Amino acid sequence: MFSKETEDKFKHLVSLYPRKRSALIPMLLLAQKEDGYIKPAAIDYVARYLDLNPSEVDSIMSFYTLLRRRPVGKYHIMICTNLSCLLRGSDEIEACVKRELGVNLGEVTADGLFSAIEFECLASCTTAPVIQINGEFYENLDVRKTEEILDELRKRR
Ligand code: FES
Repeated sequence: MFSKETEDKFKHLVSLYPRKRSALIPMLLLAQKEDGYIKPAAIDYVARYLDLNPSEVDSIMSFYTLLRRRPVGKYHIMICTNLSCLLRGSDEIEACVKRELGVNLGEVTADGLFSAIEFECLASCTTAPVIQINGEFYENLDVRKTEEILDELRKRR
């Protein structure tokens, strides 16, 4: 189901906790790292691994928005739209991203390069407006900077 490296990490994670189920979220994040999202088969696999019912894993998945059920683009953009970012122009950043990518939030571009979602506070409110792309923060944004970031990522392809 997973690479040997991921399987080894699963084994290590489970050894860290007195109760196997405590490894659930880190295991799901590893599964997501390997496949880009968490497949239904991965939910069943992790549930069996931790002696849980798949519905328990499913309910945890529905609580944490960082755990994805669908594939995302090579560059997955999380646009903070919470209060500080909203007050400092996140709506313009969101409009810019949608315009530049040509897709709505939650969709993947046809070339598989980009996807974007709205996100609640990314915990960098003092540098609003903020987006995160594959875990990297881009702060104090405006429309021009956002366009430059997307152009740069297109060139990296
Ligand atoms: S409100 Fe955007 S980072 Fe907190």
